[in-house]
Amino acid sequence: KKTKDQLIIDAGQKHFGATMCKSCGMIYTASNPEDEMQHVQHHHRFLEGIKYVGWKKERVVAEFWDGKIVLVLPHDPSFAIKKVEDVQELVDNELGFQQVVPKCPNKIKTFLFVSDEKRVVGCLIAEPIKQAFRVLSEPAGLGSPTSAECSRAWQCSDVPEPAVCGISRIWVFRLKRRKRIARRLVDTLRNCFMFGCFLSTDEIAFSDPTPDGKLFATKYCNT
Ligand code: ACO
Ligand code: ZN
Repeated sequence: KKTKDQLIIDAGQKHFGATMCKSCGMIYTASNPEDEMQHVQHHHRFLEGIKYVGWKKERVVAEFWDGKIVLVLPHDPSFAIKKVEDVQELVDNELGFQQVVPKCPNKIKTFLFVSDEKRVVGCLIAEPIKQAFRVLSEPAGLGSPTSAECSRAWQCSDVPEPAVCGISRIWVFRLKRRKRIARRLVDTLRNCFMFGCFLSTDEIAFSDPTPDGKLFATKYCNT
């Protein structure tokens, strides 16, 4: 009787171990037919989901050498909303979030980072909030955070503080991370969330962040 392990070993070194698809970013075992099939499915769905055709009167709120940021508002044409929903579904899937029904769907602002290959490679969903709970260890200028301080960053104060804007989702396509796309999305949000003012980092809050989200938020808010 052959075990799964034996099958993988039998496949030889050539296809052994994990591979990352260079277009969809999925990590899978090429020697495992089940994995390979899952990849094929994910691959098409993902690339279809992030494909960006664009529309007339799209709201370009920032432009860069490697892409642009488009803002989508709740009363935009249905194809714009559909694109946002498709991207959000991919993001929620990746993050393992349950779909949450926002309190004020009319006030949601969605920012899409569109690459010059016409793909949505970043997404930020923001909504107005009234209060937030501060992450306790923010070492306000006391030198660089040590790992102890970083782990304390996981605790939150129980005293609510006023805030203006909540980031309910921030996501960057796996193969485009660490290119300051998230940073540019948040910068643009601070500039566009309330007409005529640039929000301070105290006025924005990240809801329920993942480990990646915490690392990014800590770094972003300290610089
Ligand atoms: N580890 C350590 N530091 C990080 C990380 C990380 N994984 N990600 C960002 N940073 C810090 C770095 O200091 C970075 O600057 P540097 O590259 O010059 O060192 C700085 O933050 C700015 O990073 P960006 O390049 O702007 O961030 P990126 O575009 O890679 O996106 C994000 C960060 C959105 C967290 C991305 O990793 C991601 O999509 N992760 C998966 C989804 C996720 O977990 N999202 C957060 C959910 S929480 C929420 O939605 C409220
Ligand atoms: Zn793929």
